[in-house]
Amino acid sequence: MSAAAALDNGRAREFDFQPADHRAIAALVYEEVGILLPEGKAQLIYGRIAPRVRACGLSSFADYVAFIGRDGEERGRAVDALTTNHTSFFRENHHFEDFVDRIWPGLVDKLNKGGRVRLWSAACSSGEEPYSWLMAAFGADRSLAQRLLKADLRMLATDVSPSVLEKARTGRYSKETMRTVPAGLRSAWTKGEGDDLIVDPILRDAIAFKPLNLLGDWPIKGRFDTIFCRNVMIYFDEPTKEKLLGRLADRLEVGGMLYIGHSERLLGAVTGKFRPIGRTAYQKVSA
Ligand SMILES: C[S@@+](CC[C@H](N)C(=O)[O-])C[C@H]1O[C@@H](n2cnc3c(N)ncnc32)[C@H](O)[C@@H]1O
Repeated sequence: MSAAAALDNGRAREFDFQPADHRAIAALVYEEVGILLPEGKAQLIYGRIAPRVRACGLSSFADYVAFIGRDGEERGRAVDALTTNHTSFFRENHHFEDFVDRIWPGLVDKLNKGGRVRLWSAACSSGEEPYSWLMAAFGADRSLAQRLLKADLRMLATDVSPSVLEKARTGRYSKETMRTVPAGLRSAWTKGEGDDLIVDPILRDAIAFKPLNLLGDWPIKGRFDTIFCRNVMIYFDEPTKEKLLGRLADRLEVGGMLYIGHSERLLGAVTGKFRPIGRTAYQKVSA
């Protein structure tokens, strides 16, 4: 082992961590959730898994690799620890603006005429994305929200990580985390509790937060009017991205919008089904 490989941020590593352990963990994570953890991610793996090695009372990564081979729950915890959940309220706000200007008026019209509207935040992390989306759509208008939520409007928000979903369901965030929520929306949709802000139950109850692996089965019926699937494909290889994009396209209504992350792009056969509108925003134009 090189001297550098034996260091954890400059300190001697607490646990033995060999390239073979890295390869075994990376293979398992790729297999389960499609996330790539190449050689350059050794420190990330060490930093996130060392607390699990400690919690399991083991003394090396090799022991931990053997343990997760036979313990499904701990394997789930390892995968959860290796997801990157960075997000923020109103991240890439141009998508919310685009949705509100271009798509939402037609969807409100549809709801007013008794139609159904389905929205999906795929890979929602700790909930900032779906809450931002609903706040943007309703503005500060509670009575509009209450009226439309009594109609056939549903928002699904999914992620593979159980720990972020748990956080999302609480709707509780620090004031610092909520700093990027426009002031008018913050006062309309949150109330203070200690150092935190709590999202209004009207919005919390409007969102179905569910575990879902984008690589697995999707127990979802019907099509969506808009899908946000942002900043998750960056962790996948090209065949996984292409397959996922095809499945997302199948789940969208013609005319529906797909929003992806700022460094992501459409690829493969699915490209022909969409027309690009603005930055990383695509409208489905053919079935
Ligand atoms: C960087 S966050 C993006 C959150 C949000 N969409 C945004 O743009 O701010 C990526 C999320 O994708 C989730 N993720 C990674 N692999 C996944 C998979 N195979 N299925 C579902 N979610 C996955 C992670 O748990 C993480 O919460």
